[in-house]
Amino acid sequence: MKEVSVQELQLNPMTLIAKEWMLVTAGDDKTGYNTMTASWGHLGSIWGHGGGLPTSVIFVRPQRYTKQFVDREPLYTLCFFSEEHHSKLVYLGSHSGRDEDKVAKVGLTPVFGEGYTYFAEASLVLVCRKLYRAPVLEEGFVDKAVLEDCYPQRDFHDLYVGEIVKVLKAE
Ligand SMILES: Cc1cc2nc3c(=O)[nH]c(=O)nc-3n(C[C@H](O)[C@H](O)[C@H](O)COP(=O)(O)O)c2cc1C
Repeated sequence: MKEVSVQELQLNPMTLIAKEWMLVTAGDDKTGYNTMTASWGHLGSIWGHGGGLPTSVIFVRPQRYTKQFVDREPLYTLCFFSEEHHSKLVYLGSHSGRDEDKVAKVGLTPVFGEGYTYFAEASLVLVCRKLYRAPVLEEGFVDKAVLEDCYPQRDFHDLYVGEIVKVLKAE
């Protein structure tokens, strides 16, 4: 992996997140970590001055074991993978770290940094520093069809905005 600047990134977030998916991971080897697959999220900028801070937004439902790690830790990572690893993301998005060591099960290799974890097999890693957390609110839905479609049980995600503080690319 080599570190690159966020300005050097050439990517399409619409396909990268929605179609190829990502792993959201929080914690490290000292405090424990967990990961899950996500396909809802945004990359862009907000706050700061002169164009805003480079940021990611992720959405985590209350049922996810990963949520307690994201809530506890100041950092989270977003890991993106090539097609050959897609089946691993299917597994990590349909099994819980509460029940098993699912990372070992799929054969990914965790790499531990100071307060964060990413995976050696990733093609791109974004290390994000949490800036903001907020619940998705029922009263916020302008289009009530989205509310009924995505939240029949009213199990609203929390959204997190994180400043992208480090970018690692596979060499
Ligand atoms: C393609 C895909 C996308 C997903 N996107 C999200 C997401 O954006 N937010 C979320 O909370 N869960 C999402 N999930 C569900 C979690 O990945 C899944 O519930 C996972 O098993 C949670 O693992 P954990 O309990 O170890 O945290 C997605 C699952 C899949 C397969």
